[in-house]
Amino acid sequence: MEWLTVAIAKGRIEKDMNKIFYEIGMGDWIDQGSRKLVFEDHVNLIKYIFVKPVDVVTYVEKGVADLGVVGKDVILEQEGDVYELLDLQFGKCTFAVASFPQNKQFRLKNNIRIATKYPNITKKYFQKEDIEIIPLNGSVELAPIMGLSDVIVDLVETGNTLKANGLVVLEEMMPISAKVICNKVSYRFQYEKIMSYTRKISEGREKYN
Ligand code: PRP
Ligand code: MG
Repeated sequence: MEWLTVAIAKGRIEKDMNKIFYEIGMGDWIDQGSRKLVFEDHVNLIKYIFVKPVDVVTYVEKGVADLGVVGKDVILEQEGDVYELLDLQFGKCTFAVASFPQNKQFRLKNNIRIATKYPNITKKYFQKEDIEIIPLNGSVELAPIMGLSDVIVDLVETGNTLKANGLVVLEEMMPISAKVICNKVSYRFQYEKIMSYTRKISEGREKYN
């Protein structure tokens, strides 16, 4: 029997996945708080690797990992050539354009300055419009406050970060949740094992949600 390698996005998604693994009785390998990055489940022959969300798609696309668990936001931004097998129904949030309420007419402006961690998604969404993308790596909500941009494109989950900074959603763009992705070659050659694994995850997800 062959091993499967699964790349999991560190952070919020990792925590939700651990709950699912316990739910389906496949969590014996979990060692929370450990600094280890590779774990082996010798019962089910699954190797788990923990990487930054943006790197999950790379590991899966290159075939180093057969499967990955990561947010749809990252999949869209990376434009990874992978299959999406399962919507996990957690990590739910919305992509939105946000700013101060008085900027709600931002589309009337020439050369709209947009700060974001997601330049590709932003470019696609605005298409032909006259925009300047200001790429940032985090705390994007600061940009309009500091006058660096007119609006931001970012994820909104509870809305607390926007609210705490006096910002509001001006346009909702698309819903986001965590997904299981698959390498295209693995999908052909390890089909049975991948299907039985994702079926178990899917059952765990239903119990957990
Ligand atoms: C994310 C996102 C928003 C916030 C949304 O930031 O970029 O800022 O969470 O969540 P909320 O609507 O519940 O407040 P994150 O905490 O991941 O930090 P970063 O943007 O600095 O990377
Ligand atoms: Mg943020």
